[in-house]
Amino acid sequence: MLTVRAAKADDVGAIVRLERYCFPPEVAFGRSRWHYLLNQAKGRTLLLLDEKEQLMGYLCVLEHKGWDRLTIQTLAIRWTVRRQGWARRLLEQVIAEGRAAGWGAIRLEVADANPEAGALYHELGFRSRLRLLDYYGPGLHAHRLVLSLRPAKRERA
Ligand SMILES: CC(C)(COP(=O)(O)OP(=O)(O)OC[C@H]1O[C@@H](n2cnc3c(N)ncnc32)[C@H](O)[C@@H]1OP(=O)(O)O)[C@@H](O)C(=O)NCCC(=O)NCCS
Repeated sequence: MLTVRAAKADDVGAIVRLERYCFPPEVAFGRSRWHYLLNQAKGRTLLLLDEKEQLMGYLCVLEHKGWDRLTIQTLAIRWTVRRQGWARRLLEQVIAEGRAAGWGAIRLEVADANPEAGALYHELGFRSRLRLLDYYGPGLHAHRLVLSLRPAKRERA
């Protein structure tokens, strides 16, 4: 059984090691960006750990008070435990906690070349708001997806 806990500054090594296997180098954040995310950024990173405290996945979410929204910066699950619902569970936790804390929306970017992740986000209610041409490099397009955390306003009759 895997467990979830908030990341600490000294988890950076394990996160960067897992990241190398989950993202191509041009997309991976690398140590210095992770150092910033874990130590300075306003937000948090959830870690998924096995019984031996080995890192099985992570999700990093930042807070943007002025825009009233959360931004999912990155999400990855170790290949050995994929398709078991762990990414969905991490996202559901962030969505439920974001809603309870009164945030307006959650935003993220997903590459066109990543239909697996796109399917996951779509299933959870994220919808495309913007097409981002060359977002991950020349020819590597993406979409900005948004999930509103507020109940839809009733249409007036
Ligand atoms: C995308 C990723 C996070 C999904 O993690 P996961 O734990 O395997 O996902 P889940 O088991 O929670 O899957 C939930 C749903 O997402 C979709 N999905 C996930 N992986 C899929 C795949 N390989 N093919 C098709 N659909 C997939 C399915 O709808 C799935 O539901 P189902 O299993 O009931 O059919 C994982 O594949 C990963 O780490 N990929 C590399 C990094 C990455 O692309 N991160 C996302 C960046 S935007």
